[in-house]
Amino acid sequence: MAKKTRRVGVLTAGGDSPGLNAAIRGFGKAAIGQYGMELVGFVEGFKGLAMNNVRELTGNDLAGILTVGGTILGTSRDKPHKMTVDGQVVDMVPTIVDNYEKDGLDALVCIGGGGTAKNALRLAEAGLNIIHLPKTIDNDIAHTDTSFGFSTALGIATEAIDRLHSTAHSHHRIILVETMGHKAGWLALGSGIAGGADIVLIPELPYSVESVAASVAKRAASGRNFSVIAIAEGARSVSDAANLAAAESLVKSAASPEERQAAKNYRNSVIASHRDNAFKLAAQLEGLTGLESRVTVLGYVQRGGIPDAADRLLGTILGGAGAECVASGEFGVTVASRGQGAATVPLAEVAGNIKTVPLEHPWLEAARHVGTGLGD
Ligand code: F6P
Repeated sequence: MAKKTRRVGVLTAGGDSPGLNAAIRGFGKAAIGQYGMELVGFVEGFKGLAMNNVRELTGNDLAGILTVGGTILGTSRDKPHKMTVDGQVVDMVPTIVDNYEKDGLDALVCIGGGGTAKNALRLAEAGLNIIHLPKTIDNDIAHTDTSFGFSTALGIATEAIDRLHSTAHSHHRIILVETMGHKAGWLALGSGIAGGADIVLIPELPYSVESVAASVAKRAASGRNFSVIAIAEGARSVSDAANLAAAESLVKSAASPEERQAAKNYRNSVIASHRDNAFKLAAQLEGLTGLESRVTVLGYVQRGGIPDAADRLLGTILGGAGAECVASGEFGVTVASRGQGAATVPLAEVAGNIKTVPLEHPWLEAARHVGTGLGD
C-alpha cells in the first residue's frame, strides 16, 4: 500500500513569468484544502532546496497571490548537480536528497521551464517523488500545448508592436522589435501576427538579409515607407545559423572531455556574439534600403507584472491537476497543458527537448496568408 502523501515541497526555478503564483496557489489550495496535505516552499529554486531554505506555506500565504506577478518563493537558475557553493562547483543532489528526507517530504513540485524539467528528472532519478509544472514565456517546453507565462508575454509584446506602428509611420522608419525566445520563435511569431508586424523573424527560419531588405523596399515602393519587424532574440541570418550549427556539431563530435569543453567555450562565444543581432540587422537594413532603422528590445518587460486571465486559468488548472497527481502517487511526470485541461507526460520525454515552431505550423501559414515577410 503506497504511503499516503502528507507533506509536499514546492519550488519555482528558471526565468520568472506571470502565472507562477497562480500555479503555486492552484496546487497549494488543492493540496491543503482538498487533500489535507502540508505544504512547504523552498526559496529561490533548487538553491533553496540545497540550502534547505524552506518555509511552511498555509492557506494565508496563498491568499491574494493569483494576480501577483513573479513568484512569492523567488527563483534562480541554479542546477542541483552543478551548484556553486563557497566558490566551488558542487554536486548537491545527495544533499538535496538528505534535505528532502530531513524535511519529511513525500513529494516535490518543481515549477519551471525546460531547464527545470532536466533538473527535476535528475532528482526523480535520485529517487525523489517529483512532478513538474510547465512555465515559461517562451512556450518552448516539449509535449505541452502551452506554458503559463506565454499568454501574458504575448499580450505585452503585441501591445508594444501596436504602439511602434505609429512612430515607424511618423518617421518613415524601420523599427525592429526584439522579443524573448532564444531557440523558439513562438513569442515573436504570435505577437508579430497579432500586432500586424510587416516582417517576423524567428530562429526556426534563418533569414536572408537581402530578402528582408527586399520586403521593406517593396512596401516603400508601394508608398508604405515604414516597416515594423518582430524579431526573436534567437533569430539568425542563414550564415549565422550555419556558424552556430557548426559550433554545436563540434560539441557533439568532441572526442575527449577537454575537447568537449573547448568546443562548448567556442559555441558559447558564438552565442554571446549574437547578443546585438537586432542592432546589426538594423544597420544592414538602413544601408540596403536607405530608411532609418531603430531597435526596441522588449526584454524583461515581457516577464513582468500581473498575469492575464489565460495564464491565471492555466496556472490554476495545472496546479490543481498537479495536486491530483501527487495525491494519487503519479510521479516522474510533467503536468502538461492539453486542450482545455491537463495530461501527464513522462519527465524523460520533456527534459532536454525543445518545442520549436514547426515549419508547417498554422501560425506560419496565417502569416503567409496575410503577406507577412518571414525573411526567407
Ligand atoms: O527562459 C525564459 C527567458 O525569459 C528567455 O526568453 C530569455 O532569453 C531568458 O529567460 C533570460 O534569462 P535570464 O532571466 O537569466 O536573463
